[in-house]
Amino acid sequence: MCEYCGCQSITEIKRLTEEHDTVVNLISFVQTAHTAGDRDRMAALARQISRVLGPHTAVEENGLFPLMKADFPGQIAALEDEHRLVEKVLGEASVGTPADPDWPDRLVATLDLLRDHILKEQDGVFPAALTSLSGDDWETVALVRSTLDDLRGRAAA
Ligand SMILES: [Fe+2]
Repeated sequence: MCEYCGCQSITEIKRLTEEHDTVVNLISFVQTAHTAGDRDRMAALARQISRVLGPHTAVEENGLFPLMKADFPGQIAALEDEHRLVEKVLGEASVGTPADPDWPDRLVATLDLLRDHILKEQDGVFPAALTSLSGDDWETVALVRSTLDDLRGRAAA
């Protein structure tokens, strides 16, 4: 049991927010590459965004969201649907630059949606979590994060 001081919640929300900031930065690089017509760079950036979003989304969907679904079922389901949509379009670049001539425009449109999605999480889900989750809940989120970190560390070793 946690003698709850709030530190765990701050650590977890800070890390999720930092990942959002990284993604928003990468989105701006995608827009620059799109303007320059550089599809290879767009595809490389899509893979970079996927690498950040993989563990990030896993923490949200296996740690944070299950704890909030009872109170916000519609909002959480919509956010999870958006995760699938974003993963699909990013995933098209997983093994190289997509041949589909529409992919660059679809990527830019999807990343616009992702930016709005990030704002919904930061202005809606995260503040709601900070006021409604208990210390034990945050320990659950932290456990999901540390398990993922362990798995990634082992995979990289
Ligand atoms: Fe997120």
